[in-house]
Amino acid sequence: MRGTLEYVTLTRELAAQHAEALAALGRDNAWENWRSENVLMELPDKWRLSLLALSRGGPAAYAVVSRKLDAAHIHHLIVGASGRRQGIGKRMLLEIASTCVREGIGRITLKVSTSNQSAVAFYERWGFRVTAAKGTDLLEMSAHVQTLLAALGSARPQENGAAASAEETPG
Ligand SMILES: CC(C)(COP(=O)(O)OP(=O)(O)OC[C@H]1O[C@@H](n2cnc3c(N)ncnc32)[C@H](O)[C@@H]1OP(=O)(O)O)[C@@H](O)C(=O)NCCC(=O)NCCS
Repeated sequence: MRGTLEYVTLTRELAAQHAEALAALGRDNAWENWRSENVLMELPDKWRLSLLALSRGGPAAYAVVSRKLDAAHIHHLIVGASGRRQGIGKRMLLEIASTCVREGIGRITLKVSTSNQSAVAFYERWGFRVTAAKGTDLLEMSAHVQTLLAALGSARPQENGAAASAEETPG
């Protein structure tokens, strides 16, 4: 995927507008079972913490994030197949971390399947560590926002964070 991506907060209105396209973004993965209902489900602070990357007005990537206790929890982070390994996932994490700074949240958590090796490698690359194994197939991971920002590089997230539009950065 080439050109400028626009990173914006995934509001309820944008989720409703793009629900079907968002649910379809990860369907090249056999495990993907999200449907538009999952995209639209209400969760604490979801419409402040979630993120959408648009390419020519259409969804290129999205992250569904909500508040869980003192942390921001990533429920789903999907980069469309044609955009992977181009630094978009990295930029998404940077935007999520930036939002956390703005919202006074110090930690990000997620769950990932052990069989999803590429996602585990991606999250570990940026400082997430396994905090628990649930059953045989599910890992809980966590990262401090500041650790994440340091690992993501010197570029500080912009003050207006997810509202900003920016060029893709190489991973
Ligand atoms: C996991 C995912 C979000 C990563 O996003 P991405 O845009 O492809 O990742 P980036 O290009 O930002 O990768 C940055 C770095 O993370 C690591 N990484 C990313 N994908 C990787 C992979 N498949 N294998 C090993 N390392 C990987 C690498 O260190 C990479 O840097 P490099 O390309 O210079 O080697 C994306 O592959 C994806 O959407 N996958 C399908 C959905 C999914 O599994 N989501 C997570 C669970 S919900």
